[in-house]
Amino acid sequence: MKVLFLGDVFGKPGREILKKELPKIIKENEADIVIANGENVAGGIGITPEICKTLLEMGIDVVTSGNHIYKKKEIYDYIVQQPRLLKPANYPPGTPGKGYYIMSDKRNNKIAVINICGRVFIENLDCPFRCIDRILENIKEETPVIVVDFHAEVTSEKVAMGWYLDGRVSAMVGTHTHVQTADERILPGGTAYITDVGMVGPRDSVIGVKKENIIERFLKLMPQKFTVAEDDYMINAVVIDIDERIGKANDIRRINFVVESN
Ligand SMILES: [Fe+2]
Ligand SMILES: [Fe+2]
Repeated sequence: MKVLFLGDVFGKPGREILKKELPKIIKENEADIVIANGENVAGGIGITPEICKTLLEMGIDVVTSGNHIYKKKEIYDYIVQQPRLLKPANYPPGTPGKGYYIMSDKRNNKIAVINICGRVFIENLDCPFRCIDRILENIKEETPVIVVDFHAEVTSEKVAMGWYLDGRVSAMVGTHTHVQTADERILPGGTAYITDVGMVGPRDSVIGVKKENIIERFLKLMPQKFTVAEDDYMINAVVIDIDERIGKANDIRRINFVVESN
């Protein structure tokens, strides 16, 4: 089974470039399942029901998220009814939505997608390591094909999670930093790993936001209006090839290209 995993889709530029390029990327990579992180898809922060529907209509099977999942209030009811939109599973009990989803591809092979969030320099959440242990215990009879979006800030927490999950899941893909790392590999136990898959959005920006806004923020330490940048579109993703019979990864390959804006 081939899984295409797209980095955080950032605002309108991210959505527009995906609409244009996604069919080609799916075809070229023979993707059976498409996963995208959608936590920045609405104006660069959060996600709305309408925008989530647009992503699903584009051919994205599962939308994962992160620390911005609850930024738009409209999503609270929607996420309860839409199992293909995930919250990080280690948000406190009582928060709306689910942290994993199990589905079948066109050839009837099952895949579980799990979303968890780190807690170093990000949110004060439940332990992601213990949380994923509980989920893996719950789903172990369902399918060996398991892809994890670990949404976290620091590389050490992500690398540690990769080793913790090695041999227990098919892939761990890091999200949140919007900067693609070049450390993709298959760990010894057969888990595909990358510290961060990157972003789908404006390249000439600071993680999606207009660069002038962020430089000003660093210079003056005063609140700034964040505007979504518009220049040159960047697509960051990985394609993971998984042996669906045993849930081990054969290959992980990075996608990283720029489409110039006119
Ligand atoms: Fe993000
Ligand atoms: Fe994030």
